[in-house]
Amino acid sequence: MIEPTRILTSEALPPLRECEAELACLKDKIQRERGFNSPFYKDKCLRRRIAVRMRARGRFGYAEYTQLLDSDPAEYDRLLDTLTINVTKFFRNADMWSAIEQEVLPSLFDSCERRCRIWSAGCSSGEEPYSISILLRQWAEQHGREAELRRFAIEGTDIDPGCLAAAERGEYPALSLVETPPALRDRWFSSGPPYRLHEEARRNVSFRRQDLISDTPPGEYSLIVCRNVIIYFEREVQERIFQAFYDALVPGGFLVLGKVETLMGRTRSLFAPVNPRQRLFRKPA
Ligand SMILES: C[S@@+](CC[C@H](N)C(=O)[O-])C[C@H]1O[C@@H](n2cnc3c(N)ncnc32)[C@H](O)[C@@H]1O
Repeated sequence: MIEPTRILTSEALPPLRECEAELACLKDKIQRERGFNSPFYKDKCLRRRIAVRMRARGRFGYAEYTQLLDSDPAEYDRLLDTLTINVTKFFRNADMWSAIEQEVLPSLFDSCERRCRIWSAGCSSGEEPYSISILLRQWAEQHGREAELRRFAIEGTDIDPGCLAAAERGEYPALSLVETPPALRDRWFSSGPPYRLHEEARRNVSFRRQDLISDTPPGEYSLIVCRNVIIYFEREVQERIFQAFYDALVPGGFLVLGKVETLMGRTRSLFAPVNPRQRLFRKPA
């Protein structure tokens, strides 16, 4: 049955009943039951996203919506999806990938003697770490350095177990590849949809659940890519995470934040800018 609110336009919907105590209970519940650290996310952003789900389900008070979560586990999952915002694509923002190819990869291939660890933090369903893997392989093939690929390990982490399960499957709808050059799509994926990433490009990529807010990253990375994640966190948390990235990088290691994120406060002086437009930085050697 179609729920009544779905056929109303947003102008026709009644306003939400704002009750701070009820909202606090809802946030508390999500944190306790699903481990979502709501106090560290930007409040405005959380309210907006909770409101989207409440309106979609025709619940206009926080307490009423909290009750719904108890009786409808699928809605609970949908709320978590809405809060974590897992939009992503292969080779999202072409300019950034060119910057990595030209300004990072030569140095990674030349300077890494043993193992070269790369971390995609907040990797969603795996498109970002797999794009890194494809880029590495393309570069190695073009420069006759395929034998060195075994030194590279790419780790994708995210807070959302559903996204990580999708990443492990390695199969994608056409929408995930709209920013992928056709030559790369034909070279690295089975024909689709769904497009299945070839085993070769998946071999050195692993995934695990990690909460950027509460888990300390294990160190020794040569490259950390973290895009479209930290922007949703409160400022003090952002600074703490940038410091953790600094600590987790080897001397001379690279940090890529993409156009949306910016280094905060004192963490700005920790890194040397390499490509300010793409927010590509380097830890001094
Ligand atoms: C918009 S996606 C970004 C995906 C990819 N980095 C990109 O730019 O295409 C944001 C991802 O951050 C994850 N995320 C949100 N909060 C997180 C946290 N506290 N720790 C780790 N990942 C988190 C979400 O689950 C989501 O998959």
